[in-house]
Amino acid sequence: MARLCPEENERIDWLIRPSYFNDATMTTHKPTIGILTSGGDCPGLNAVIRAVVKSAERLGYDCVGFLRGYEGLIEPVGYMPLNARNTAGILTQGGTILGSTNKGRFSATVGEDQRVAIDPVLLEQVATTLRQLSICGLICVGGDGSLAIAQQLYQHGMPVIGVPKTIDNDLGATAFTFGFDSAVASATDALDRLHTTAASHERIMVLEVMGRHAGWIALHAGIAGGGDVILLPEIRWTFENVCRKVLQRDSEGKKFTLIVVAEGAHLPTGDTVTVGTHGERQQSKLGGVGEIVASEVASRLRREVRTVVLGHLQRGGNPTTFDRVLATQFGAHAVRLIHHGQFGEMVCYRPPNIESVPIADAIRSLSRVDPNSSAVQAARALGISFGDAAELVSPFAGPCAAEASSSG
Ligand code: F6P
Repeated sequence: MARLCPEENERIDWLIRPSYFNDATMTTHKPTIGILTSGGDCPGLNAVIRAVVKSAERLGYDCVGFLRGYEGLIEPVGYMPLNARNTAGILTQGGTILGSTNKGRFSATVGEDQRVAIDPVLLEQVATTLRQLSICGLICVGGDGSLAIAQQLYQHGMPVIGVPKTIDNDLGATAFTFGFDSAVASATDALDRLHTTAASHERIMVLEVMGRHAGWIALHAGIAGGGDVILLPEIRWTFENVCRKVLQRDSEGKKFTLIVVAEGAHLPTGDTVTVGTHGERQQSKLGGVGEIVASEVASRLRREVRTVVLGHLQRGGNPTTFDRVLATQFGAHAVRLIHHGQFGEMVCYRPPNIESVPIADAIRSLSRVDPNSSAVQAARALGISFGDAAELVSPFAGPCAAEASSSG
């Protein structure tokens, strides 16, 4: 287990001392890069931190990490120096050594994607901290909400670079956010496990996965884990169609069914299902749709249905190799952008290249599953139901229909 800092006492000292720049213990005058991790954690955050530190040191920068996301930038300011020694061995570790805050005092988003202005007093405090610490570039690693905060810091004149992270993969400017692949791997592993027990007991199993208002995790894990029904926020579905799929499988001798539900999937009434609120702005927390699907299917079919809510298991654990590589490239590129003075940009993956786009463009709209995408079409081609009417189309509706019906 890597230590947060060479000396634990020294670390506590760093955390509570706000006037770092004037401090006698400050031994360097090198330009300093700051980094923070904000929002829900995900595998790969530590890989970004390590990549930033290693590549920044080679270019002659010092690094500091702000603690608990943007909260570390304001009183009581919390930060730690980062160097090759105290970031060694963190490449493979999930979580973030800097800590993170989801929906803290800085929240710049309400509801799905409605932006609100950050308190100017907070913005001024951040500017003061960056000045005091001689920060020449601040790398903000976060999802849509956290990048909306980064954009406001940039508009306030601060030298900010964004790095997209989220298990939800809902940022359109990048082909993938890191964390997504690891979350899909966890959800797929859960489906593999549910498969064997569902088959043994001839049960219907519902797996609820995260993803906020996008169905990327449900779609990819559903395909990779052999799901039979996938319910997404992007495709309207009905209980009748879900039950029809279960009965169709029954009639084919397959007495069990795996249903994957995205937490943001709308019920047939159009409502999403929430479990309370979080944060200063009282944002709704998604969750509970899986149980509703399970109990409705159970009562309609008079069958045993069990629900598993995967929850934060999707966010924990080690990053996959894909996420390690992506996070490392994002970290190195973020430092390159600072070195070239290209602020207000978010690094992004446009296969096969790592590029950047203005943060303002990156947060303009959320990326959602296209119901006509090749992944959805491939799933349909295999008989996976999305709970809509599409799969009810006759299998003999294509050009070979005449031949099939005449021979049949
Ligand atoms: O954005 C990542 C995410 O895990 C979402 O998929 C989920 O809705 C949300 O965060 C949960 O947030 P929290 O951990 O704060 O409850």
